[in-house]
Amino acid sequence: MKSTVGVGLIGCGRAGRIHARCFAGRTAGARLVAVADSDSAAALQTANDYGADNWYTDYRRLIADAAVDAVVVVTPTNSHCEIVVTAAAAGKHVLCEKPMALNVDECSQMIDAADRAGVKLQIGFMRRFDAGFRAAKQAIDNGEIGEVVLVKSLTHGPSVPQRWMYDIAASNGPLAEVNSHDIDTLRWFTGSEVREVYALAGNYRCPEARDEFPDFYDNVVLSTRLENGAQGLIEGAVSVAYGYDSRAEILGTKGILFVGGLAERPLTVCSASLQVQQPIVKSWRTLFSDAYEAEDAGFVQVIVDDGVPEVGGIDGLRAVEVVNAGNRSIRESLPVRLETQGVSV
Ligand SMILES: NC(=O)c1ccc[n+]([C@@H]2O[C@H](COP(=O)([O-])OP(=O)(O)OC[C@H]3O[C@@H](n4cnc5c(N)ncnc54)[C@H](O)[C@@H]3O)[C@@H](O)[C@H]2O)c1
Repeated sequence: MKSTVGVGLIGCGRAGRIHARCFAGRTAGARLVAVADSDSAAALQTANDYGADNWYTDYRRLIADAAVDAVVVVTPTNSHCEIVVTAAAAGKHVLCEKPMALNVDECSQMIDAADRAGVKLQIGFMRRFDAGFRAAKQAIDNGEIGEVVLVKSLTHGPSVPQRWMYDIAASNGPLAEVNSHDIDTLRWFTGSEVREVYALAGNYRCPEARDEFPDFYDNVVLSTRLENGAQGLIEGAVSVAYGYDSRAEILGTKGILFVGGLAERPLTVCSASLQVQQPIVKSWRTLFSDAYEAEDAGFVQVIVDDGVPEVGGIDGLRAVEVVNAGNRSIRESLPVRLETQGVSV
């Protein structure tokens, strides 16, 4: 292995530019050597902003670039499978953003491709690298709240969905784009697998989508039972207007843990107007900026050490499985049992 891991970024949009920033100078042992985006302006701008030597509009050319040892895939979810399989087959290590893919079959193809090529495959569940979430996991593992009984996890985002998200059959909807993280949190904190889900959803804030996309939901509640008997409750919302909100509550037999909060800074202002004011977190970009850095550093370390990613393909697959079961539950208004836990990967 070379002394510096050459990283190629595929997808230079909102999340892609965060990884570009990390690999451009904040990740020891790695360097951003190339970027690709089907939009040439986005590729060129990102290459200029973050000092990449090369930029491409065809991701295949980036994968063929000899300076690229590892790729970070940050394109829309429906392209993850094709790009990851191509990169792995070319012998490149892969960090793929969540949701891993659209269905279990695609996830299995990606895992198989990485296994066959002997390359690393890490999935972008960066909450596992966030200091607060890690401290909660440590407290659980130390037995500080006894046995985990219930994990409640919510994500509310301010973004108005992009048009492609309105078609739930094509995008898997907010359960995938927003709540994949919460599903991973649930599995991580319970150390168990989801066995049954029941989900309710509705469109409360996006009237522009109602006629053309009657199945679209901007609010979802998903309740679950896990293999070890623990319970889970996941809540997701988009277009919430008030800020970015990610919180988890873990109830055990001997205590409770709270992770996250709405305050942007540990500051509360009480003024002569008799108002209590606290700035609210505006974006996942700022809330989790340290977590993205730690995630990218972890990916490089796994490559250098020939180690095992903390969040691998199977974690991505399990989350996709729950997303699909949740969407089926919404469609059929029935609880759905997960029958595919034994899927071979
Ligand atoms: N970890 C997180 O918290 C987090 C946050 C946001 C987004 N994401 C994930 O990252 C992915 C991208 O989301 P985003 O919000 O950055 O989207 P975005 O639309 O802002 O950016 C996607 C970029 O990919 C480019 N692109 C599309 N198809 C391509 C292809 N075939 N080859 C090369 N470039 C292509 C687009 O031109 C665009 O610039 C999604 O899977 C999303 O779920 C993860």
